[in-house]
Amino acid sequence: MRFSSKAGAPNSAKTDLLVVLFAKGEKLALPKAFDAAHKAAKAAGDLPAEYRKSCLLYPAGKATQRRLLLLCAGDKKRLDPERLRRLSAMACKRAEALGAADYILCTGDAVLAACDERLTGVALAEGAVLGSYKYQIPSHKKAEPAKCKSGVLMSVSGKLAKACTDGVRSGAKRAVSVSFTRDLCNKGGNLLTPAIMAREARKLGNAKVKVKILEEKDMARLKMGALLGVSRGSAEPAKLICMDYNPKGSKKTLCVVGKGLTFDAGGISLKPGGGMDEMRYDMCGGGAVMGLFHALSTGATKSKHRIVGIIPASENLPDGKAQKPGDIVTAMNGMTIDVLNTDAEGRLILADALCYAVKTYKPSAIVDLATLTGAVIVALGHEASAAIGNNQKLIDAVVAAGEVAGDRLWQLPLWDVHRRQMKGRYSDLRNINSGKMDGGGSISGGAFLENFVDGTPWVHLDIAGSAWNAKAKDYYTSGSTGVGVRALCDWIEGRK
Ligand code: BES
Ligand code: MN
Ligand code: ZN
Repeated sequence: MRFSSKAGAPNSAKTDLLVVLFAKGEKLALPKAFDAAHKAAKAAGDLPAEYRKSCLLYPAGKATQRRLLLLCAGDKKRLDPERLRRLSAMACKRAEALGAADYILCTGDAVLAACDERLTGVALAEGAVLGSYKYQIPSHKKAEPAKCKSGVLMSVSGKLAKACTDGVRSGAKRAVSVSFTRDLCNKGGNLLTPAIMAREARKLGNAKVKVKILEEKDMARLKMGALLGVSRGSAEPAKLICMDYNPKGSKKTLCVVGKGLTFDAGGISLKPGGGMDEMRYDMCGGGAVMGLFHALSTGATKSKHRIVGIIPASENLPDGKAQKPGDIVTAMNGMTIDVLNTDAEGRLILADALCYAVKTYKPSAIVDLATLTGAVIVALGHEASAAIGNNQKLIDAVVAAGEVAGDRLWQLPLWDVHRRQMKGRYSDLRNINSGKMDGGGSISGGAFLENFVDGTPWVHLDIAGSAWNAKAKDYYTSGSTGVGVRALCDWIEGRK
């Protein structure tokens, strides 16, 4: 669905559905044709007066609008971008459910004034485009097209600030990049192998974004023993995808690294069978990085800095050639690792990707995203991702970006006790701590990764709980959420 904005009062605009979004207690003049229905609803006590409550009205006599949905945004003091995103998604979903070919989202002035004008535009556009997202399943049947083709933002007073209309344009574009990530991540493991992921990355290449793919022979030359160890059990060769956005005059380099495990069976430390298909989503960190580069290549986001995206892409399967628990591998920086559990593979492929990022690009900051641990679901559930890092200023900046973007992050600690837990007995490091004895599985993942950033300011985001849904939220339905793309865009845009 397309979402745009238009100045002018909506009263005479023609539409299948006029959604009037108003703050609690905000009195709005509705188009005359709806007066009678409005009065009747009021008399019946049906007018919505709380966040998310709504009431559908039909016109009496001739009207340019077929229906009117009163949608309450709740207390204006509690309105934030996340609520706006959700309300906007509710509006477009209602339009689709009603079979409306188009709708107008018309906001009262109190709603428009509640948050920063630009953020309001961004959030309303994101809510609409992401709320109407549908994964086109591969099928012998042609997919049914969506009924609702367009949504337009207007305001009851007819006025929209330029910052708001700019926000709508950029939010709509950005949401297309999030949808691109969702499409990628929802694919089954055979439909998105490391080679196919690399091909998709190449397609993002243009005048702004350069793409380079390292093959296994390159990894061997670079001594990436940790990444190659994971890939040993797979017939599909691993790929290291590098995407480079380097605008003229850039002074700083930021690296964004994403786990691209296209299918995680656990390796020799095989996972239980139930729900294993969900491990298609184990490339969602890489998917988020691809979404950021989709946004950079389409101009949905911009940066004055050089942005480098790195995705180690591999499968993790059991096989006669697969690495075994107790194998000792050597990462690119020379550190030896005891692979005590082959299912803790994400940190292994990230180890070499982080080494490569630091050595090749000398970034001033690194953010990595990974579906790293099931433990993060125990700690934070599905509504937040964990943030663990070595630099509080960077952590604060990334967490703040996630908060505005609606990709919520929550910091977990990283202390010397955690670092000590990762020391190896037969090697420099072990790839798991001692499980039940130590607990804190998500933190230990971070403590492991820290060894490969060579002191560079870095933050690791564990998105294992947030990358695909447990429960539908207004602006996503099922499957991949595309988490991380919006937070990354906001982070690089706001970076000094
Ligand atoms: N990809 C998984 C993490 C995961 C598990 C994400 C469940 C989402 C749902 C990761 O590679 C993994 O297997 N982690 C292990 C680590 C353990 C062996 C220390 C885990 O979480 O069990
Ligand atoms: Mn695993
Ligand atoms: Zn994994």
